[in-house]
Amino acid sequence: MKPARHSQTLRSPALAYGGATSDATPGITRNEELYCEAVALRSLATRHGTPLYVYSAAMIRARLKAFARAFRGVPHTLCYSVKANSTLGILRLVAGEGAGFDVVSGGELQRVLRVNRKAAGKVVFSGVGKTAAEMELALRSGIMLFNIESASELNLLAATAARLKKQAAIAIRVNPDVSAKTHPYISTGLHQHKFGVPILEAQTLYERAAKQPTLKVEGVSVHIGSQITDVGSFQESMERVADLVRTLREQGHDIRYIDAGGGLGISYEGAQGSFEKQIGAYARAVTAPLRGLRLHLLLEPGRSIVGPSGVLLTRVLYRKTNNRKRFLIVDAAMNDLLRPSLYGAYHEIVPVVRGSREIEITDVVGPICETGDFFARDRKLSLTSEGDLLAILDVGAYGSVLGSNYNTRGRAAEVLVDGAKVRVIRKRESVEDQMRLEAR
Ligand code: LLP
Repeated sequence: MKPARHSQTLRSPALAYGGATSDATPGITRNEELYCEAVALRSLATRHGTPLYVYSAAMIRARLKAFARAFRGVPHTLCYSVKANSTLGILRLVAGEGAGFDVVSGGELQRVLRVNRKAAGKVVFSGVGKTAAEMELALRSGIMLFNIESASELNLLAATAARLKKQAAIAIRVNPDVSAKTHPYISTGLHQHKFGVPILEAQTLYERAAKQPTLKVEGVSVHIGSQITDVGSFQESMERVADLVRTLREQGHDIRYIDAGGGLGISYEGAQGSFEKQIGAYARAVTAPLRGLRLHLLLEPGRSIVGPSGVLLTRVLYRKTNNRKRFLIVDAAMNDLLRPSLYGAYHEIVPVVRGSREIEITDVVGPICETGDFFARDRKLSLTSEGDLLAILDVGAYGSVLGSNYNTRGRAAEVLVDGAKVRVIRKRESVEDQMRLEAR
């Protein structure tokens, strides 16, 4: 008989071996099986197939509440960054908690409107390449704020608003030239990046905007990158933005909003530091430079809200050894989760049912015909057999949204767990679904 093991929480509050109820799968000792809230992941894989994205509603709610608590001292609106995870079921959950949204395309805005028409009043529209059609949709739906990223975009928005006889509330996204100390692909706040307007040139643009009757200057916005764990970078950029706000006010601009962007990182290594503490430090870094300015703060977090809430369940198809190198070939691939291939990102991988205590060093790879199709290289994992289930952790953000149909693989199904309830929020995509728009 195997010795009893204590239950172990992998991601608080909702991902743990053992689970909250005693409905463990028959034949498996309690505490050896991974649960999302009250639901055994193994039962979800059996029922819905793999690869499967599973999200915890409790974790998303807890993180939204932690943000609200950390920023309760300042007037603020949390605009969840839709790009991190845009599945309607997730947006509905976030909207239900009273949050607004940060969108970067007309498509994302349509998703938000599908979930709640009235949510438009709490939408900010960011991005360097907004088209006239996207601006028109945003103006007609009455969004809260456009984040403008160039002089040409400012002109197009003024003209579009004039055509519709509307006025557009705007902030200019400034580039503070602050290093975010993160992966170069997701760092955005240095002068060599395509984002924002150099902070020194911003004043000229504000002057031009103020002369346009169809534009209303209301804010300053900034975003320096993603997966940032050093809160000092946020503070540095907010200090520069606060100085700009003071200058703009002196010049007669009525600045009400400051949009601090998103970017707060999560721990992919699974360090169980408290989120409350981390978010507290972030809130202090963001708000300290704003003291005395009487602004309404906008926040655009994505990853820190949904990242740890998601796991990707995958089944081991084959074990294989080439020379002495071991591979686990699983049924998920880079088309389901691109982060390891694209950024060399680390995602913890754990067995869904704890079995062998023997450890091996192995690569975990997908079936796609690319050497870059991997989830882990030379990873220490407990010995895994063909047919076993693995859970890839922290995939709630930039997981399903970066999915593709490469190798004519259908996009994975997604389920949302809420206590003991399970809802399919995206069905598995069939080959027929994929071919629907193509000429026969
Ligand atoms: N606001 C703006 C203007 C952004 O560009 C982004 C992310 C966010 C907010 C949300 O940032 P977050 O809080 O999620 O860090 N695919 C990459 C991440 C790309 C982030 C792009 N912009 C990844 O998988 O790491």
